[in-house]
Amino acid sequence: MSDTKVTTDHKIIKAWAEERGGKPAAVKGTGSGNDPGVLRIDFPGYSGEESLTEISWDQFFDKFEKERLAFLYQEETEGGLSRFSKLIDNDKNAEMKGATMNPFELLKEDHKKVAGLLGQINETTERAEKTRDELFANLYSELDAHSKMEEEILYPQLKQEEETREIANEAVEEHRVVKQLLKELDVTQKTTEQWTVKFTVLKENIEHHVEEEEGEMFQKIRKAFSKDQIDELGERLAASKQRLAKSKTV
Ligand SMILES: [Fe+2]
Ligand SMILES: [Fe+2]
Repeated sequence: MSDTKVTTDHKIIKAWAEERGGKPAAVKGTGSGNDPGVLRIDFPGYSGEESLTEISWDQFFDKFEKERLAFLYQEETEGGLSRFSKLIDNDKNAEMKGATMNPFELLKEDHKKVAGLLGQINETTERAEKTRDELFANLYSELDAHSKMEEEILYPQLKQEEETREIANEAVEEHRVVKQLLKELDVTQKTTEQWTVKFTVLKENIEHHVEEEEGEMFQKIRKAFSKDQIDELGERLAASKQRLAKSKTV
C-alpha cells in the first residue's frame, strides 16, 4: 500500500527522516536573518545537494510551527521505504480532513450520487433501453461499493453498541432486499412494464433506507460514539472507499 499520511508531530517527522538518512534542510537563497528559508528534507546522495543547505532540527521545527505547516509523507512504496514527503499548509489540511473524513458527509455524498441516478432512471421510458442499461449498470456498481463499505465498516461497529445494534441489523436486512431487487432487475428485460414497476419498488426502498440512515441512524451514532470514535470511523470509511474505487477500475 502506498497511502500518504499527514502529521504535525515533530517526533514522527524526525524519526521518518532519520530512518531514511534524511536531514533537515532549507532551500538556498530563500532564508534571511533568523529565517532558514523554505524547508525541505534532504537525502544526501539523491537530489538537492546543490540547492539545499543543512539546518538543525530546532531551526526546522521552529519554522515549521511559525508557518503552521503539516508534514505529508509516505511510509512505503512498492520497492521498500518511501522517501516521498511534502510540507503543506496545516489549515488547509484540517479543512481537507474535515470535508473528506467526516463519516456523515462521506456517506451522504454517496447517497446523493445514488439519488441522482435513481432520478435519471425514473425519467426514462421503456423505449430507452440503452440509456436504462447504462444508468442501471452505473447504479448497480455504486450501490455495490456503498453497501460493501457499510457492511464491512459501518454496521459491524454499530452492532457493538447497544444503542445502535438494532438499527444496524435492520439496515442489513434492507440491504438484502435491495440486492435481491437489483438482481431481478438485472435479468429483467428493460423494455417491459415489469422492469418499470420493479424499479419503482427499488427506488422507494432505497429512499426509505437512506432517509433512515441519515436521520435516525446518524443521530444514534452521534449519541453513542465519542468524537474520536466518529473521526476514526470516518477515516476507515474513507480508506475503504478508496480501496473499493481502486478495485472497481481494475
Ligand atoms: Fe445502507
Ligand atoms: Fe447508506
